[in-house]
Amino acid sequence: IPNDEDTPKEENIRCLPLLDHFGFECLPHQLVNRSIQQGFTFNILCVGETGIGKSTLIDTLFNTNFKEQKSSHFYSHVGLKIHTYELQETNVQLKLTVVKTVGYGDQINKEASYKPIVDYIDAQFEAYLQEELKIKRSYFNYHDSRIHVCLYFISPTGHSLKSLDLLTMKKIDSKVNIVPLIAKADTISKNDLQKFKAKIMNELAENSIQIYQCPVDDETIAQMNSSMNEHFPLAVVGSMEEVKVGKRMVRGRQYPWGVLQVENESHCDFVKLRDMLLCTNMEDLKEQTHTRHYEQYRCYRLRKMGFTDVGPDNQPISFQEIYEAKRQEFHEQCQREEEQLKQRFMQRIKEKEATFKEAEKELQDKFEHLKRVQQEETLKLEEERRKLDEEIIEFYKMRAASESLQTQTCSNVKKD
Ligand code: GTP
Repeated sequence: IPNDEDTPKEENIRCLPLLDHFGFECLPHQLVNRSIQQGFTFNILCVGETGIGKSTLIDTLFNTNFKEQKSSHFYSHVGLKIHTYELQETNVQLKLTVVKTVGYGDQINKEASYKPIVDYIDAQFEAYLQEELKIKRSYFNYHDSRIHVCLYFISPTGHSLKSLDLLTMKKIDSKVNIVPLIAKADTISKNDLQKFKAKIMNELAENSIQIYQCPVDDETIAQMNSSMNEHFPLAVVGSMEEVKVGKRMVRGRQYPWGVLQVENESHCDFVKLRDMLLCTNMEDLKEQTHTRHYEQYRCYRLRKMGFTDVGPDNQPISFQEIYEAKRQEFHEQCQREEEQLKQRFMQRIKEKEATFKEAEKELQDKFEHLKRVQQEETLKLEEERRKLDEEIIEFYKMRAASESLQTQTCSNVKKD
């Protein structure tokens, strides 16, 4: 080991050139081998109106016919179609998940159009957070379904963005890397396309919508990426058709006036998109998803649960302390609620008792009243009976008097 006295010291770390081979220069190879063994995942979200060319572009990107059925324009709400595919290129495995909107742009209610998209992105973050919070985590088998990139398909009107485009992008720009695309760019002339691109970028800036910026901090790709950033939004054309151009067969779209070659960079930005997504920036897209978008969601969720890094006195506060404080708070809240419940219960019992007493009193009064009425009736009846008895006695008397009168009259008549 050489004497390091001449080398400048930096934070007490000595920099020592090794004189022999020790082996840790192979670390990058170990990482590459491990990654190849594990395989890669990539999740794409395609947002765009029905029939704008989402499926065709994905097929073209991976040169595979994923056999998608066309969606109808008559869905009553926006939905998402999710498909996962296992792809392989040489010895590299890619687990690709493609999520596509269904019924987007066909709804009157704009809020109902973007909400399912926002909810889906959040649900994937939530699933990852729940896995992270588990005691027994299984990252090895866990299918990370967080969206790494959102391909936003803009209708090639040549005019401007639609209000739904602005609304949706504004809602998702803090949750996902947005790559705006002008779909079916073969339907718009070259001059109009340049103006349209500038107009879109202005509108995005005016509305403070953040789109994905390819990183320019890595020298090897800085130039390529900065030129890529200038080309946004990328004007793309999709096609799985093979067309003959000279002696070659190329993928393109045949028109009466010529052939649009999908992979010809002077015809459209398809190759730029493919290089950007798959060759140059896939890892950055994944990193941005994890370190920026997921981090933001995680912070928001943990804060909502009541966790914080510093206490009211600005002193660091540990997870354990917060947990204990939360437990205590929860316990006290339970006790408060129990007490309130008891008081409410007692109050209700008192109210019920008062109601019963009132009802009992009413019944008693009613009973007394009825009793009085009945007594009066009895007295009246007895009076009437007494009068009747007197009348009967009078009647018998009168009858006896009349009978004796009659007998007397008869004996007088016989004597005569
Ligand atoms: P849904 O999933 O049904 O919403 O449709 P989608 O957005 O996936 O569109 P899809 O890829 O099914 O394409 C719809 C039609 O547009 C098909 O007839 C395609 O051939 C055509 N199409 C796709 N891409 C392009 C393109 O870049 N240019 C032109 N001119 N037509 C295209």
